[in-house]
Amino acid sequence: MPKISNKGQQMPESPIRKLVPFAETAKKKGNKVYHLNIGQPDIKTPEVALNAVKNANIEVLEYSHSAGFESYRNKLAAYYQKQGLPINTEDIIITTGGSEALMFAMGSTMDQGDEIIIPEPFYANYNGFSTASGVKVVPVISGIETGFALPPIADFEKLITPKTKAILICNPGNPTGYLYSKEEIEQLAALVKKHDLFLIADEVYREFAYDGFKHFSVMNEESIAENAIMIDSVSKRFSMCGARIGCVVSKNKEFMSAAMKFAQARLSPPTYAQIASEAALDTPQSYFDDVITEYKDRRDTLVNALNAIDGVEVANPKGAFYCIAKLPVENAEDFAKWILEDFDLNGETVMVAPAAGFYSTPGVGLNEVRLAYVLKKEDLIKSAEILKAALVAYKAR
Ligand SMILES: Cc1ncc(COP(=O)(O)O)c(C=O)c1O
Repeated sequence: MPKISNKGQQMPESPIRKLVPFAETAKKKGNKVYHLNIGQPDIKTPEVALNAVKNANIEVLEYSHSAGFESYRNKLAAYYQKQGLPINTEDIIITTGGSEALMFAMGSTMDQGDEIIIPEPFYANYNGFSTASGVKVVPVISGIETGFALPPIADFEKLITPKTKAILICNPGNPTGYLYSKEEIEQLAALVKKHDLFLIADEVYREFAYDGFKHFSVMNEESIAENAIMIDSVSKRFSMCGARIGCVVSKNKEFMSAAMKFAQARLSPPTYAQIASEAALDTPQSYFDDVITEYKDRRDTLVNALNAIDGVEVANPKGAFYCIAKLPVENAEDFAKWILEDFDLNGETVMVAPAAGFYSTPGVGLNEVRLAYVLKKEDLIKSAEILKAALVAYKAR
């Protein structure tokens, strides 16, 4: 039989999806499962976006420009400028989701065996993109005790080797919900400048910032115009995960030419989804105001309910729609399986994501879970009640 590549064998499975068979068992038993495990928002996609696709009059569904529609890039640049980001049309390449933008960024900045430093816990697919690009992830630990703040710069410096090419941050963070301050971004800027590294910032949750905190983008840090690469996406901003549109943004011309070669190799991003994404930029501000208010309420609901459970510790997220909770169990993955297989409260149970899969240092985060507050408030309250009862039953079993 022909042999699968080492790379193919090493590609990590999604830690978020590995409990799916257990959730299926729970559903087969007739139990309702509340999904706190994935970041699929239940918020409606803006009508302007859906209508633009319905009204599109296309006779030939042809390839578009490899960098994406120029009209879309112009409008996107204007959107960023309105938010105070100095981004022009030529600084943007439209991609098939933020996921492809991350692949282009890694492919254009790193060779086989190069190293990328990432504060952990981090978005688990960074492992997959790194493996696919032949890049080694070097984690720097951030912990629940500091609310997942930026680790000290000295911790990064200890890890820098001649093979280090980039630092990757997620701001605000999935899975932590941490929003880096202007000062933290400035510290990182000084670091990447000193060591001549790229700073890749995944800012797909940029709009989701609460409590009056303002998001500070790497694109706002003029001193690192040549080092900064921003990753963006329409998936969460407009609740358009299925559109598969994102972009990679940089002022570094050499980087953009390299990324453009990756873009040309895959020809073009999807046409209908670009039509939807371009139209989505006309979404009224009131849509975002409502969405942010809703998420803030959901966050408060979930965090308060979790804090009221004995032995549970949560880092209050300032952005995105996730939080990490430390549970009074030894092994959160075992608990997550058990709660699906062997537990229900009046025919209902919950699915959570064990947080160990978001760390790349073995043995870290074993008693933590990631929860996505993408459900309605009453469902979040129910989910917390189920977790509370399950923790008591798990301990007594
Ligand atoms: C932090 C982060 N980056 C990137 C992505 C990928 O997004 P896209 O749907 O744009 O590929 C996600 C999706 O959940 C994410 O959470």
